[in-house]
Amino acid sequence: MTQPAPEIVRSIIALRRNLAVWRASGEGIGLVPTMGALHDGHLALIRAAAARHRRVAVTIFVNPTQFGPREDFSAYPRNEADDVAKAAAAGAALIFAPAVEEMYRPGFETAVNVGGLATVLEGASRPGHFDGVATIVTKLLLQALPDSAYFGEKDYQQLLVIRRLVRDLDIPVAIAAVPTVREADGLALSSRNVYLSPEQRRIAPALSRVLATVADRVAGGAAVDEQLAWGEAQLRMAGFDAIDYFTVRDAESLEPVETTVRSARILAAVRLGTTRLIDNVAVGGGQG
Ligand code: PAJ
Repeated sequence: MTQPAPEIVRSIIALRRNLAVWRASGEGIGLVPTMGALHDGHLALIRAAAARHRRVAVTIFVNPTQFGPREDFSAYPRNEADDVAKAAAAGAALIFAPAVEEMYRPGFETAVNVGGLATVLEGASRPGHFDGVATIVTKLLLQALPDSAYFGEKDYQQLLVIRRLVRDLDIPVAIAAVPTVREADGLALSSRNVYLSPEQRRIAPALSRVLATVADRVAGGAAVDEQLAWGEAQLRMAGFDAIDYFTVRDAESLEPVETTVRSARILAAVRLGTTRLIDNVAVGGGQG
C-alpha cells in the first residue's frame, strides 16, 4: 500500500496552521511524540492512533533537556529520512521535526515539575529527566492540541508522569497507552538497543524473562520480597553489570507495595556496560 508523502513541518506556526485546517474540517487528530530512530514500538503507537483518528501527527525531536550531562544526547541515533518513511507507512499524515532553537528560544527558563511521582525510580536515577520530559510534552500538547496523544507502556513511569501533568494542568487532551512491543526473545524494543554488543544483546532478554516470572509468581501469591531477591540474583547471574532498581510498585502511585491486593507493576532498570535498559510488566491480568 503506498501512502501519500507526509507533510514535514519545522515551525510551531506551521504545525498550528496545518492542524487548525484539520480541526476546522472536523477531522479527529492523534499525536505521537517521539525522539525519532523509529522502531516497531513507535510504529505501534502510530498505528493505534491511525486506527482511532482521521489524522495522525508524529513529532520527532531529540529533546536536550531530558538528557543528563553524561548521557547520550549527541550520540542519540538520528535518521530523519528513514523515520519519515516508516511513520508515513504506519499512517502519519504530518511530521513535526523542529530544531532545538524552535522549541527552546533564547532565554527559555520555564520548567514543568510534576512532583513526587517524578522523583522516584527513573527520577532518582536520572535527576532532572522528568522535568525535561514534562516540559517538552506539555509544549507539544499545547502546540498541537490533538484529541488524543499516544504513549508506550515501555516507559511506564513517563506515562504516569504525563497523565499527572495533563490532569493537574487541565490540558484538554486524552492520553492513550499502548502495550510494550517486544522482540521475539522478549527484549523490549528501544532505540538504545543499537548500543548493545552481540554479547550484551544475548544477555539482554533475561530482563524481560525475569520480570515475567516474578510477575507470575507474585500474582500467584508468592512473597514480594523473596521474589525480588530471587529476581535480582537471576539478573546478576545472567550478566547484567548493575541493577539501578528492581521493584514492585502500586500501578498508579508507584509507591512500594508489600502485597499485591491492588494493581501492581514490576519495574526494572539495569545496565549492560554503559547502556541502560528499562522494562516493566503488570502483575497479573494487566497488559504489558
Ligand atoms: P522515545 O523514546 O522516542 O519514545 C516515544 C514513544 O514510544 C514513548 O511513548 C515510548 O514509551 C514509546 N515506545 C518506545 N519503545 C516502545 C516499545 N518497545 N513498545 C511500545 N512503545 C514504545 O519517550 C520518548 O521518546 C520521549 O521521552 C518523549 C515522550 C518523546 C518526550 O521527549
